[in-house]
Amino acid sequence: MASLVESATASAAAPATVPRVSIPPKGVDYRGKIVLAPMVRSGELPSRLLALKYGADLVWGPETIDRALIGAERRVNPRNGTIEFSRFPSNGGRVEKAAKASVIYRLDPIREKGKLIFQLGSANPDLAVQAAKVIAADVDGIDLNSGCPKPFSTSGGMGAALLRTPDKLVSILEALVQEVGTPYQIGISVKIRILETPELTAALVTRLVRTGITGLTVHCRTTPMRPRERALRDQLRMVKDICHEAGVPCLMNGDVESRDHGLALMEEYGVDGAMIATSAEANSSAFRSKADGGLAPWKEVVYEYMKFCLESENKLGNTKFLLNMLISGKDKVYNEAKQCKTYLDFCRKLGFDDLLPHAVRVDEILDLSNKWTSAPGEEVKDQSRSKAVQNAMENNESARAAGGHGARSKAAAQPAHTGGPIRTSSVPTVSKVTKAEPEAPAVDASVSAAQAPPPQPEVTA
Ligand SMILES: Cc1cc2nc3c(=O)[nH]c(=O)nc-3n(C[C@H](O)[C@H](O)[C@H](O)COP(=O)(O)O)c2cc1C
Repeated sequence: MASLVESATASAAAPATVPRVSIPPKGVDYRGKIVLAPMVRSGELPSRLLALKYGADLVWGPETIDRALIGAERRVNPRNGTIEFSRFPSNGGRVEKAAKASVIYRLDPIREKGKLIFQLGSANPDLAVQAAKVIAADVDGIDLNSGCPKPFSTSGGMGAALLRTPDKLVSILEALVQEVGTPYQIGISVKIRILETPELTAALVTRLVRTGITGLTVHCRTTPMRPRERALRDQLRMVKDICHEAGVPCLMNGDVESRDHGLALMEEYGVDGAMIATSAEANSSAFRSKADGGLAPWKEVVYEYMKFCLESENKLGNTKFLLNMLISGKDKVYNEAKQCKTYLDFCRKLGFDDLLPHAVRVDEILDLSNKWTSAPGEEVKDQSRSKAVQNAMENNESARAAGGHGARSKAAAQPAHTGGPIRTSSVPTVSKVTKAEPEAPAVDASVSAAQAPPPQPEVTA
């Protein structure tokens, strides 16, 4: 897309011109960035805030499927100022049980500002555009997942299946660029895997960089490769060269272990940035360079993570999932923590005494207090003491939400849709860690008229 490409002078001494796609005013440039990879389950808001705290330059949210987002209600959580996109399950046709809204995506408009890339799962340009419009005004870029190899994604034509249907992949990206990227002034990008041969990969990438995208991430594994197999970097320079000829920033992914490692790989392969997944899942301080302190001890990371979980009112099942990764398997608290069913119990078990009052509050908000193994003692007293603080916070956040992000009506509206049971991502839930947890509080929808999605047809799974 010639109109999107501008020329930049490579250096004063050698005035060769290097094409560079221009980054839309509300978008972000992927160049020079070490970023958190999209990870279903492991990439929810608290993990992203943790990665940012330790120095991630940008964070990708977990893949969310188009149909899950279409028709979702947007609201500002008055307690913490986060923006939540929720929908009601169909409730299996049962009328006797009130359906609870399920938060399918949560973001922090302050702490993630200028840093959040939303990743979409889609196999259809129209659905992709409809879904992207729901969230475009709240994020800094939209990335299309074209690399998930799991059958539940590929069988729907999404993820890595798109690598085999390049016409469809190109049409989704072009639609997103024209109908979302341009009007919302944010970038559209894509995450792919390498194909079996350099020729196949080159042919694909050559088409992708002409769609108007402002970034391409290449996961240096082929679709059949398992995560444990070492990433293959023999096609990386070629992919980078094709991207650069079109002025598109190229991020590398696969076995990047830390910020310092990523910077070294960027130097070695000439790519523009590096994306970290599993190393960040194991210890988010992988984003901190050695010069700034390097890897932090697991307990420090877990403490910071727990604070973000409480602040975000994160679903306990999800918190537990990542705690399983972050807590050292060698520590005896690892097995004990697995038994915890409430934030209060977790914080007690981990010795985070200063977090106990907050844990009590969040357990109550999430309807977990009936699972406390023993009643809170001092924590309850602290809790009543902190009520005033909480009220003050709520008032502040409401004011911030109302004033800081455009006028939003605060009608306690119920979402009009009753979308059916739906997957929000292509990765199935793991029953062990995501078994039915109480959902977020009932939706008090505050949808900005400007951002409200158009009425959507009812969605079924
Ligand atoms: C738990 C988990 C969830 C993932 N979810 C996604 C996803 O939602 N979208 C995506 O494009 N890749 C997803 N991936 C793949 C990673 O983004 C990344 O491409 C892969 O793990 C390779 O990076 P690494 O070698 O640093 O782990 C996921 C990986 C893991 C471990």
